[in-house]
Amino acid sequence: MSSPRRCPAIDFDHNSQTHADDTVGSYRDIRTSTPVAWTEAHGGYWVLSDYSSVFDAARDDETFSSRRLPHGGEGLAVVIPKTPMHRHIPIELDPPEFRTFRKIVNQITAPAAVKRMQEMIDHYTTWFIDQVIESGECDFVDVIGVPAIVTVDWLGLDPEDWARYARLHRTTLNGLPGTPAFQHAVEVDMPQLSERMRQTITARRREPTEDVISYLVQQEIDGRPITDEEVFAITELLVAGGTGTTASLVGQALVWLYQHQDVRRTLIDHPEKLERAVEEFLRYFAPTQALARTVVRDVDFHGCPMRTGDRVLLSWASANRDESTFENADEIDIERWPNRHTSFGVGVHRCAGSHLGRAMSRALIGQVLERMPDYSIDVQALRRYPQQGTNVGFQSIPARFTPGPRRLPADA
Ligand code: HEM
Repeated sequence: MSSPRRCPAIDFDHNSQTHADDTVGSYRDIRTSTPVAWTEAHGGYWVLSDYSSVFDAARDDETFSSRRLPHGGEGLAVVIPKTPMHRHIPIELDPPEFRTFRKIVNQITAPAAVKRMQEMIDHYTTWFIDQVIESGECDFVDVIGVPAIVTVDWLGLDPEDWARYARLHRTTLNGLPGTPAFQHAVEVDMPQLSERMRQTITARRREPTEDVISYLVQQEIDGRPITDEEVFAITELLVAGGTGTTASLVGQALVWLYQHQDVRRTLIDHPEKLERAVEEFLRYFAPTQALARTVVRDVDFHGCPMRTGDRVLLSWASANRDESTFENADEIDIERWPNRHTSFGVGVHRCAGSHLGRAMSRALIGQVLERMPDYSIDVQALRRYPQQGTNVGFQSIPARFTPGPRRLPADA
């Protein structure tokens, strides 16, 4: 095989229909031929698609900034094209400013904190499955609302609003700009939900409770009280991080397990294998496919001349399929270990919610396998999100199974 060419211009757009039709094949093509390449799509950006370039860029935040800078337009800095959204903290900060905020978030997302949430996670998982278990059919997308409601409740927002928060973040990250659904999300849902978040922040300042927002409003940043705007920026990021990603992972894993019933049987008989299996599902499905940075100093990177202001896409999904790091990368091996996938990112911004994401995924997949062990999926009726550039996943997963009993009282 000839050695891969470096830094040519390629015809590539991670938000195009061609890419969405076959994300794995599309990334394989560029990773094996041009792992660091330039595309003119969306005003131009570098695409990094092999493990080493993704890993190196993600660890070099002095060159590859996450800050909101003017290059590439207005909006969330870590996606291409930038999407309309309030500034998020800490994901849109660079060190050293980043560190104080990340420490604050780590306190509430560390393994010990997630352990304290286990009861709530199990409760909501049981409740969501109870809603459909007697009927023998459901759309799994409704059941996998669990991560959204857990996140919203944990933060201290109104749990009744979970579906609206989930829809807002799904639409702004996966929807098509210009469509009525996208406009509605940006013009109606976003201002209304933001207003509710701001009201909750004000209320918790006055009278703190036990929730995350109450914890956040009491923090100090370099000796001064944290501002409401900063609390808002952290809270909204936690909602965005908590809602779509885990649901995407679980949805894709459930479809795959239906298509691979030998592995499903193994996990039903050996629930202790679920922990490593979830890690492998993360690698294989990469719910967050790719995120962006902005170059802040001229550099020669992997043989390519990058200039200040250039936008760069780091494909976690493609790095995870790099054969030089993962043997049989296109196959799922639920025993794979070690599994140094990049699905939670790499470097200082590595996912703050990874332990929570894993705990919710295990609870959901575990309970579905236990209570609906013979589920089947209408594969023809599966519908994916229109764009698969940033987050992948299904909008509809129609399923049938042998009905079973509820576990919670009807009025729970
Ligand atoms: C399967 C589930 C999840 C996946 C695949 C995922 C993926 C990611 C990725 C790739 C990043 C890196 C961002 C970057 O490098 O720019 C990230 C960051 C982050 N995630 Fe997650 N995430 C998941 C679950 C969650 C959950 C449940 C939460 C919280 C409720 C969360 C909160 C965050 C936060 C706060 C950051 C920013 C960290 C920072 O900038 O320091 N994530 N996530």
